[in-house]
Amino acid sequence: MNKYEIRVMALTGIMLSFFLFAILYNTFSRNIDVPTCIPYAGIYKKPHFKKLDFSTYEVYAVAHMWAFEPTDISLPAGSSLDIYLTSSDVVHGFNIVKKGINLMAVPGGITKTSITFTDPGVYRIVCHEYCGAGHQNMMGKIIVTP
Ligand code: CUA
Repeated sequence: MNKYEIRVMALTGIMLSFFLFAILYNTFSRNIDVPTCIPYAGIYKKPHFKKLDFSTYEVYAVAHMWAFEPTDISLPAGSSLDIYLTSSDVVHGFNIVKKGINLMAVPGGITKTSITFTDPGVYRIVCHEYCGAGHQNMMGKIIVTP
């Protein structure tokens, strides 16, 4: 075997080991997980936001060209929010700025994740997947009150 082939194979092995380490480190040490994807089963047709108890909220969000519904969500600090997300037309992104939430809104599927808001403030939601002429105006916000 050529010595360059051996070097390329060794380099590939080192890189794959690094990627595996990064996945395991983020999963077990930093508790970063990928969002759940639920097959669309007619769970919701209309976007809505509801309170489950004093500190737990749910939003069933729909992304479409070029807005999120509901547009604004308001909840008190310390609350946890379960987000169910789908799209009614094309693939959109759903990024909650400065909170590390990065979801895909996919037609025919529901993406779910949960987040806790400990600090009051306004958290912007932006679409981060190019989805057409109005992509750059596609935003929403989460208002966390003290
Ligand atoms: Cu929706 Cu970009």
